[in-house]
This record gives sequence, structure tokens and C-alpha cells, in this order.
Amino acid sequence: MATMESLIGLVNRIQRACTSLGDYGGGDSSLSSLWDALPSVAVVGGQSSGKSSVLESIVGRDFLPRGSGIVTRRPLVLQLHQTEGRQEEYAEFGHLPRRRFTDFSLVRKEIQDETDRITGKSKQISPIPIHLSIYSPKVVNLTLIDLPGLTKVAVEGQSETIVEDIETMVRLYVDKPNSIILAISPANQDIATSDAIKLAKEVDPSGERTFGVLTKLDLMDKGTNALDVLEGRAYRLQHPWVGIVNRSQADINKNTDMMYARRREREYFETSPDYGHLANKMGSEYLAKLLSQHLERVIKAKLPGIVSLINKGIEEMEAELDRLGRPIAVDAGAQLYTILELCRAFDKIFKEHLD
Ligand code: GDP
Ligand code: NA
Ligand code: MG
Repeated sequence: MATMESLIGLVNRIQRACTSLGDYGGGDSSLSSLWDALPSVAVVGGQSSGKSSVLESIVGRDFLPRGSGIVTRRPLVLQLHQTEGRQEEYAEFGHLPRRRFTDFSLVRKEIQDETDRITGKSKQISPIPIHLSIYSPKVVNLTLIDLPGLTKVAVEGQSETIVEDIETMVRLYVDKPNSIILAISPANQDIATSDAIKLAKEVDPSGERTFGVLTKLDLMDKGTNALDVLEGRAYRLQHPWVGIVNRSQADINKNTDMMYARRREREYFETSPDYGHLANKMGSEYLAKLLSQHLERVIKAKLPGIVSLINKGIEEMEAELDRLGRPIAVDAGAQLYTILELCRAFDKIFKEHLD
């Protein structure tokens, strides 16, 4: 029997199956309802708010493309798998299933290349996700979706509609009632102007599925602090706010080691006169644990609904296969058949979790 830990991994696999379904994922089939029902963590925030930095801190590795402008132009579904013992860390892409990446600078390059493959070298965006799994004894089990940063104006070379297009794409993820929103805001800007909070407020007014993350605490003006936000007075959420200190641009230029940066972040909170009393509830490691536990709880609570949707999906796919007839439409039929087999397997495993 699978352990509860692997539930997050299982849900991610169904998610991947649903997105690869193309046409079948759309419309009002049970599979598209299933996609809506699957819990996930979507990372949202304005450009340069620190989204990529937070993701890298959670993973403890340097692997995301960076630069100015819109760097993330396709959703990146990042699945972290905790492995046992002293195993080597490696990464695998959904579109390159048999290749193991141990050099994380090649992971960065592949994300860039795979982004360009769909969007061209232009600065266009595409809602087709890239799936990346990281296997490591140092990560917690967690699935996070990195999304393009919200912007206010199109720049040279971008289409007129880019601002709206990004917002539409982000909404596709955060509108789902089961999605968990990781809302990233920089501490050196007024929280009232945060793009992430503005969107979260709209789609989750009660704040029950939003986790507020405040980055760049180290960049605040001397003599000021963010206690109003971190203690929930400036903007109240059901979950506690988490403060973060990521690597600065100078650290990145110097290639500052991620593990060193994590340690320095911990020290920052432990020795801070302002945040010392909150130190054990701050930082990227704490955030990773908090999210992993929460995601698992949500999945467990939604499990009966997920299982029933999977069963409906199985029935629909069987009917569809009967209609298509395998010899006539080999591609569609074969793809459907694979998904069907996957759903049957999931159904079995999930039922074990229900008992
Ligand atoms: P994204 O556009 O939201 O993905 O933002 P990035 O993670 O790429 O960060 C944008 C810039 O802000 C980079 O130069 C980071 O080094 C810097 N940055 C992010 N978080 C922090 C932080 O907590 N402290 C400092 N000093 N710099 C940060
Ligand atoms: Na950026
Ligand atoms: Mg980024």
C-alpha cells in the first residue's frame, strides 16, 4: 500500500494526464471537472516580486531561467519528490521522460529551450505547461506551479494584449476552488499595491486558500519593519504570513550557494530585533513544510470527490473508446486508452487511501 506521502505525487500524475489529453480535457467532460477538482499550489505575484527566488529556495537549487522582463512564459508545473537516504538529486521533464538531469544549469537551459519551442523566440506566452520533477532527499513532497508575473504595461516587442493574456492565464489556475494560492509580495513596496494580494482578494475573499509570502524583508528602509503584514493586521488571511529573505541580485551574480543562503536566512530571523519572536515561523524551509502539509490535508479532504470523478471519467472514456474503435483512430484511441489505464490504476490506489 502506498504511503500518504505519495498522494501528492499521484495527484500530480493525474494532473499531467489531464493536461496531455488536449481536446478531451476541455468541454464539460468528467476529466475536465477532475482537472478543476485537483488541488495544486499556484505561485502568483508581480514581475520581480521574488517568485523564482522563492521556488529555488524551496527546492534548495538554482535552476530557473532569470533575467529582466517576462522570463516565465509558460506555466511550470514543478513536482518535488522526497527520496530516501543519500541519493543523488536529479530532475526529469515530462517531455523528455527518459533523460535524467543532474546538472541543474542544463535544467535551466531546457526550460528556456522548451519555452521557445512553443512560443518562438518572441516574447509571447503560452498556457501549455512544462512539467518538471525534482527527486532529492532534501525536498518535501510538493507540487508548485510557477506562472508568468503579472505586469501593468506591455514593453517593446510584446503584443498589446500581453497584460490581459498573463492575467487570464494566471486566473485559469487561481480561479479553481481547490487551488492554493501562494501570493508573493515584496516587503519594499506598499502591500496595498501588491498585484498578488489584489488578485487573491478577488478570487479568494475569505483568504482560506491564500498563503501570503513577503519577500525582500532585507531591503526595507532602515527603521521600518513588516510586522503589520506578518502579524496579519495589514491584510488578514486565514493562514499565517511567511516572511522570506532570498538571495539578492549581487548574491546571484556572485553565485552564492543556495544552502548558504538558506542558513543566512535562518540567521537573519533568529537575530532580528523585529522578527526574532517569529523566527520559527519564517523562512523558505518553513514555508515548504507548511505548504506540503497543507496540500496533503487538502488532497485527503477532497479524495472522495476525486475518486468519484475518476470513476465517471473511466465510464466516459470506455464509451468514447467504443465509439472510436481502436483501428480507426489510432492516435486518439491510443492516447485515451493510456489515460484510461492510468485512471483505473489511480482509482485502485486512491480507494486504498479512502479506507
Ligand atoms: P520574479 O520575477 O518574481 O521571479 O523575481 P525573481 O525571483 O527573479 O527576483 C527578482 C530580483 O529580486 C532578483 O534580482 C532577486 O535577486 C531579487 N530578490 C528576490 N527576493 C529577494 C530578497 O528577499 N532579498 C533581496 N535582497 N533580493 C531579492
Ligand atoms: Na524576473
Ligand atoms: Mg521569475
